[in-house]
Amino acid sequence: MKKNDSNIKKAIKYLNNNECIAIPTETVYGLAGNAYSDKAVSRIYKLKKRPRGNPLITHYYNINNLKKDCEFDNTFIKLYKKFCPGPITFVLKLKKKSRVSKIITNNSNSVAVRFPSHPLTRKLLKKINYPLAAPSANISTSISPVSRQDVVDEFGPKLKFVLDGGYSKIGLESTIINLIGKPHILRLGGINSKLIYKLINPLENKNKKKIKIKVPGTSKLHYSPGIPVRLNAKKNYQNEAYILIKKRKKLDKNYFYISKTNNLKEAAKNLYKTLRIIKKNGYKKIAIEKIPNINIGEAINDRILRASKK
Ligand code: TXA
Ligand code: MG
Repeated sequence: MKKNDSNIKKAIKYLNNNECIAIPTETVYGLAGNAYSDKAVSRIYKLKKRPRGNPLITHYYNINNLKKDCEFDNTFIKLYKKFCPGPITFVLKLKKKSRVSKIITNNSNSVAVRFPSHPLTRKLLKKINYPLAAPSANISTSISPVSRQDVVDEFGPKLKFVLDGGYSKIGLESTIINLIGKPHILRLGGINSKLIYKLINPLENKNKKKIKIKVPGTSKLHYSPGIPVRLNAKKNYQNEAYILIKKRKKLDKNYFYISKTNNLKEAAKNLYKTLRIIKKNGYKKIAIEKIPNINIGEAINDRILRASKK
């Protein structure tokens, strides 16, 4: 515990100096900086090699901190009460007086916000008086990191500090919902879309129009492991790494289990880690067994479908 406290102190020192650091979240690790500082935010874009037109998610401790920067309605409050802190991101309207750096929002009047549940990062957010801008802590288009080592593998000594919070529990990014106009999901993720839609009051949103919004970071290139990926594979061919979710009788050095019991939560947690191991081992091709398209399986399928497109 003491070590965690001194690491949080260290993290705050860097952040107060407008440096960026990596932070653990329950979804994936984030590359974080003061969301009110143009300098800190510019550093995130530079380090991550992220195109400037792709906006960042801003992480808050709670709704009280958010009030200064964003407008929200009852639908937001309902979802917030049910799912936060947790793996859901809301696109909201910015207030005119908001201090969020214009670089984060790409000069638009909307911003994506999230309340991560990882205890270390919550402790950190509670102690600072600014929110944290944080995209996933990988070089643009690479696989999102789910451990301290993954982050180190991405940035090496260029990144000064990683707050180590162990393996990310969920292992896939948050679900993003646009709450400007008619609520709709922009990216599948940690919370199943059905649970979200079940909670939204259709009457309250009856007269709202669906407002189209660009989500630049969900382009197919984004989740690419850099080698061909074959989906719904019933078997693997020679030299192909084979990702499986159910135990097979046969032993094969090319088998990589993300679960042995068809457990989708476990599979989500292990997916990015396994893709990294496969790449490190020098495989040139990946095959993936069919993943049931229910619960978090929906988000797994979304990511592997993007990864399979060239
Ligand atoms: O779980 C997560 O959401 C992780 C952790 C670190 O919080 N973060 C994450 O950030 O996945 P990133 O930058 O890798 O993905 C954020 C996505 C991008 O696709 C970006 O284009 C979209 O959110 N986005 C950000 N702000 C937006 C906005 N105002 N409107 C629409 N899309 C937005
Ligand atoms: Mg990302």
